[in-house]
Amino acid sequence: MRKILVTGAAGFIGSNFVRMMLDDASCDDKIISLDSLTYAGNLANLDGYHDHDRHTFVKGDICDEAFIDQLMAEVDIVVNFAAESHVDRSIHSSSDFIRTNIGGTQVLADAAKKHNITRFVQVSTDEVYGSLGKTGLFSEATSIKPNSPYSASKASADLLLLAYFHTHSFPVVITRCSNNYGPYQFPEKLIPLFVTNLLEDKKVPVYGDGMQIRDWLHVDDHCSAIRTVMDNGIEGEVYNVGGNNEQPNIEITKMILKHLGKDDTYIEHVTDRLGHDRRYAIDASKMKEKLGWEPQVNFDQGLPATIDWYINNSSWWSAIKSGEYMNYYEKQYGTQTS
Ligand code: NAD
Ligand code: TYD
Repeated sequence: MRKILVTGAAGFIGSNFVRMMLDDASCDDKIISLDSLTYAGNLANLDGYHDHDRHTFVKGDICDEAFIDQLMAEVDIVVNFAAESHVDRSIHSSSDFIRTNIGGTQVLADAAKKHNITRFVQVSTDEVYGSLGKTGLFSEATSIKPNSPYSASKASADLLLLAYFHTHSFPVVITRCSNNYGPYQFPEKLIPLFVTNLLEDKKVPVYGDGMQIRDWLHVDDHCSAIRTVMDNGIEGEVYNVGGNNEQPNIEITKMILKHLGKDDTYIEHVTDRLGHDRRYAIDASKMKEKLGWEPQVNFDQGLPATIDWYINNSSWWSAIKSGEYMNYYEKQYGTQTS
């Protein structure tokens, strides 16, 4: 029985990964969920799984050396989701991003090295590659050229871990994934923000001309890719994970409006994000050719199902969209949308 430490387990992707591992009746891995419960961490994301016999939740900070050292002694594998993850927040202030995304990863890696863990999966992002022009795709050989404080912090962690592999034969594998969508995503990111604003009969703040392109992947596909890399990836390798599903933001906005029976008057073009990356698109052929992984969820079905999840789980997001969240909303969007 393997013991897997999942950091950032109360966040969007981490909680989906934990649920996937625990829902698999053929799996006997023990899951230790770790999260410091920042504004983005939510224990409700693991509701129904707290008493699962293969699951333990631990509250703690990946930057806390003594605590991580103690925990790591019990672990075989680490899957590191813990991060500050929102580009707009990193533009307001980058210190938490440097602390957790770089410093926290270093603390985890040093403890993992000391305790001889067998595998360290670093969940990274396609944003480390920077922005594409109208053509081309990010491959694993594309140069690292991050443009936001968030992506610079993720790129730094990747480089540190690859240096640990080179220097210490550290058993790291890195995934670089495109934009995820699905249930339990914090409603500051494009899709859950727009869906929940519309459900509250508010406008949706489209940055600039809305022609920025992202390559959207359902979170279930990302989780299955991480599991594949955890089990079969080669140490020291990077694996790009993508949905082969490029969509301009304005098209996604229109799909959401249509599904919710709203018209274009709900669109508000607001001031563009500083340094906004224009296009991301992933070449995920290495995942297919080397590890046999391919995305399974079609966007035409995945997006409506995701919107319906937010419709049916309004108590989950309305509990978030109050208090501190509204302070952030005011700071980010001012009075532009209401
Ligand atoms: P999220 O913000 O929803 O979750 C992050 C979790 O990490 C939260 O539960 C938070 O409480 C926890 N955390 C933050 N700092 C911590 C600390 N110091 N110690 C312990 N826990 C801490 O983010 P997400 O969207 O689930 O992203 C998870 C990972 O996937 C991140 O590393 C992110 O860079 C990466 N990623 C995300 C996407 C995406 O589209 N969301 C795409 C590619 C890669
Ligand atoms: P986001 O969900 O923040 O993910 P990322 O910045 O990691 O790609 O944003 C996705 C796209 O949507 C990005 O091009 C920025 C845009 N966007 C808006 O137009 N308005 C918004 O209010 C937000 C949050 C994002």
